[in-house]
Parts: sequence; structure tokens; C-alpha cells
Amino acid sequence: MSVGFRCCALIPWMVLAAVLGSVLSLGEDLDRPLFGPPGSPIGVHESDPGLKKVMLFAEERYNRGSNAMHLRKISRFVSATKQLVKGIRYTITVELSNTLCKKSAMVRTCDFYPETQKLKTEVCVFEVWDIPWQGTSTLLKQKCSPKAEVEETNRVAEPTNSQPVEESVQLLGQFKDFMVKYKKDYSSQEEAERRLQIFQENLKTAEKLQALDQGSAEYGVTKFSDLTEEEFRSTYLNPLLSQWTLHRGMKPAPPAKTPAPDSWDWRDHGAVSPVKNQGMCGSCWAFSVTGNIEGQWFLKNGTLLSLSEQELVDCDGLDQACRGGLPSNAYEAIEKLGGLESETDYSYTGHKQKCDFTNRKVAAYINSSVELPKDEREIAAWLAENGPISVALNAFAMQFYKKGVSHPWKIFCNPWMIDHAVLLVGYGERNGIPFWAIKNSWGEDYGEQGYYYLQRGSNACGINRMGSSAVIN
Ligand SMILES: *[C@@H]1O[C@H](CO)[C@@H](O)[C@H](O)[C@H]1NC(C)=O
Ligand SMILES: *[C@@H]1O[C@H](CO)[C@@H](O)[C@H](O)[C@H]1NC(C)=O
Repeated sequence: MSVGFRCCALIPWMVLAAVLGSVLSLGEDLDRPLFGPPGSPIGVHESDPGLKKVMLFAEERYNRGSNAMHLRKISRFVSATKQLVKGIRYTITVELSNTLCKKSAMVRTCDFYPETQKLKTEVCVFEVWDIPWQGTSTLLKQKCSPKAEVEETNRVAEPTNSQPVEESVQLLGQFKDFMVKYKKDYSSQEEAERRLQIFQENLKTAEKLQALDQGSAEYGVTKFSDLTEEEFRSTYLNPLLSQWTLHRGMKPAPPAKTPAPDSWDWRDHGAVSPVKNQGMCGSCWAFSVTGNIEGQWFLKNGTLLSLSEQELVDCDGLDQACRGGLPSNAYEAIEKLGGLESETDYSYTGHKQKCDFTNRKVAAYINSSVELPKDEREIAAWLAENGPISVALNAFAMQFYKKGVSHPWKIFCNPWMIDHAVLLVGYGERNGIPFWAIKNSWGEDYGEQGYYYLQRGSNACGINRMGSSAVIN
């Protein structure tokens, strides 16, 4: 095995420079020949706005350079790739066919010939070099078949009056900001390019979520924007939860004695510790449970402690440490162990270690646990009366959430696909949208200072399905 490649702290910056520098260095001489591009070409989807613009450009150049009487237009998109060079080099394969319009018309709304034999369809490969910030597009190559008239046009510089700001450069800028902001290191250039591609896909998903959100949430770049859905799921979410069967029957929680007030927030009453960070470990279940017990202990004892998740990761044999767990199991494990140590005494490392629990250091104990009702109004009333609640939900929309009240459509947030455990700390209404305030365990730089706000009243993302709480007598 080669050892020479893994030592270099410079690699992330070399990668960054390779991927971005060549594209973003504005001062370079445009007429320099194109050297080998820094990355291999990557596939582009037909809907890519940058590609759309370049296809129109290619179509126009094609028509300008042909002797045909009729205007010919792209009748089918076949494939496209783009390479990050100084600017973007597109290679596009499309089919072009005759329209009914005479060339002189140059209008864009021309219908194709209804008779197929008159379409005279050609398959063309175009290479276009697009430098958005200079507003220039250059047709590097045009090659069409089956017609014999193969035209080769090399480096015909042709400035277009395009927008100076273009999506792909925006994308690179966003990716660069993302890498800097979240201190991302990639082990190789291939990896960086793969991450850029995932990043772009995730931006599209975020846009979709944004377009379909029924609440007021903003979705966009988050620190998880370079992870595929599978990676995100397996690292930060909890596979056990989706097949949740309670390890043991928990008693139902006694109903609240009074109806829910209009709003409530345990952060205003000192029952919630600062937001924590589970890191690269699927231990959300442990954070959800310690959050609940911190609240219960505060209400019983008057002191707000920060309790140990690592104890649960290491010593809770009923759960799967960094590979997921169930709050119901965790309560049972805590009862058996005799309690939880404090965060300072048994601090978080984010990977499973040998159990180092000692009874002498128990900071808080519990006596039993209860299961919450499924009705969101009853959950709210119980919360206001009894403290923050351990809940679980489908976290799909959370990967892209930035702020506001999230209300994703059910197709994005199937209530039966529960994969993340969190802490309900309050509820209320924001600009007419009822919400749950949810303490997450992905650091304070996630969402709104570490919190996620989810629409309340429609069982969104299955938020009502797995509420539970420890009981301290
Ligand atoms: C709270 O807990 C501490 C430490 O366990 C204990 O010394 C104290 O007496 C408790 N206070 C109340 C009011 O229960
Ligand atoms: C609750 O649990 C603690 C610690 O295990 C124990 O000392 C206490 O007696 C229990 N309380 C009741 C009412 O069972």
C-alpha cells in the first residue's frame, strides 16, 4: 500500500485550489489554450439552468453557421457533461430538427415539421466553453451526423449578452463557502468532485423542499450538504427507530390535569441545557433521553444538570451505541445501572468505548418511564405540565433545514419512517403557523441555534408517534 499520499495537510487546500481556483481566478489570460481540465467531466441534468443557457447558445450558433433555409431546433436532449475549467466546458449531445420557421424569422416559438421525413434530424455534439462572469460563451466544437456536412468550428469566440451571474459559478462559490465554513477536508480531488456533485444534488433537493414547504421554513446549505441521503441516514439517524417496537411495554403517561396553554417553552423556565453535538455517531437516542431526564431532574430537584450520553453509548447493552437505539431501552438501562453521571464526569467522545460507569458518580436517577399519548394537543398539555419530552420523527427535511417553521409535504416526510430522536421543549405559533420547538443534537450551528421548528397539528413527520419520558419519584 502506498503511504506517500496520506500525510499531507495541504491536500484539502490543493483540492480546493484545483477545483475552484482555476474556475474562480478571474485575472488569467483568456486566450491561453485549455490545458487538461482539473477534473473529469461530470454528467449534467437537462434541467441545469447553466446547461439550458448553453444549449440555446449552441442552437443559435448552429443555425447561424448552416445554409439550411429553415430554422432548426433541438428536438431531443441526449446527454451532457460539464468540466470545471476556467469557467465551464460543456459537452452536449442533442438532436436537431427542422422547424416550420424560415431562418430569417429567428423566433423561438417555431413548431417542428409534422412530417417526420421533413425533420431531417441530426445528432450533434457541441462543446461550449462558458465563462459566466465575463458573459462569454465560445463554441469550441460542433460535430453533427448522420448528415455528411460535418462542421468543425474551433474556438470561435463569441460573446453573448448573457447574465454575468450564472448558476454553476454560484454553485462553486457556495461549495467553497461551505468547505470553509464547515472546515471540510477531502482526501483527494476525486473525493472533492464527488462531494461537489452531491452538494449540487442536495441543493436541488433543498430547492424542492423549499418549493413544497407549507410552513415558513428555509432550506439550503447546511453542514450536511455534502452527504448523500444514505450517508446522512446511517451516520446521523437511527435505523432502529423505523422498526420501533417497544422493548417493553411502557406505562401510558397520566393525562395532563389542565388543557394546554397557548404556548410554552421550557427554555424560558431553565429546564433545558445548551445544545449538544452527537458528531459522527448515531446516538441521537441517547441525547433525546438525557435531554428529557435533565428536564425531569430540574423539575424534581431544582438544579439543571448536563447528563452523560457517553455512559449510554458505552454501558447501555440494550441499544446499539453509535448504530442507533431506542429511548424505551435507554430508560430501562439507566434504571438498571442506577442513574446517569454528569457530562463532565463521563464526557462525550462520539464512539463506543469500554463502560466506565461508577455508582459513586451518579448525578441523577430515574424510577420508571412512560409513553406519551399520540394526540398533539394532549402532548402539548403534558409538556407544559411535566417538562420536555423525548420524541422521534422522520428527519428527511432536517438535513436541509436552515430556519423557520418546517412543514414538508408527506411525501418527503413519511410519518412511518421514523429515524431520529430529539427533544420537544416547547410549542407556540409563529405568524399564524403553530409549531413545536425541537432541541436537536447536531450542534448550535444547526438550524436556529441548534433548534428545529416543525409545524404542529398535522402529525408532521410522525412527531406524535414516539413520545416518552422518564419518571423520577
Ligand atoms: C438535588 O440533588 C442534589 C444532588 O443529588 C441533592 O444534594 C439535593 O438535596 C437535591 N435537592 C432537592 C431539592 O431535591
Ligand atoms: C427511585 O429510584 C432511586 C434510585 O434508584 C431510589 O433511591 C428511590 O428509592 C426510588 N424512589 C421510589 C419512590 O421508588
